[in-house]
Amino acid sequence: MIKALPAIVLLLSSTGLVRAGEPPSMLKTAPGRDLVEAHCAACHSLDYPRSNAPFLDRKGWEAEVGKMIKAYGAPIPPEDAKTIIDYLVANYGNGA
Ligand code: HEC
Repeated sequence: MIKALPAIVLLLSSTGLVRAGEPPSMLKTAPGRDLVEAHCAACHSLDYPRSNAPFLDRKGWEAEVGKMIKAYGAPIPPEDAKTIIDYLVANYGNGA
């Protein structure tokens, strides 16, 4: 019984190390990122907004976030949606 203890401790701490090694977020650090993480990861990976970025300007992101809310029922308050759109345009927009 006692003999198994170090192995268990080792297992637990190595699990902790693996976790600590993961990036806290795949998204760029900027104001609004916490809102994107809170509101945009519920139904799909955060890779969705990231991989669509090259195609979308402000109008595109407005439409995209609007679609998440209206068509898919994402519970995002309008003031948060604005911050989210600003974040996406600034960090992932196509610059148009
Ligand atoms: C209520 C669930 C839900 C939430 C919350 C949500 N989405 Fe989506 N999203 C979907 C669904 C459903 C699809 C399309 C189906 C699929 O491909 O998985 C999708 C697809 C996408 C796509 C791919 C392009 C497209 O239109 O299909 C992007 C980009 C995207 N979402 C961005 C966002 C962003 C940004 C947020 C946060 C503001 C968000 N989503 C929050 C449900 C959601």
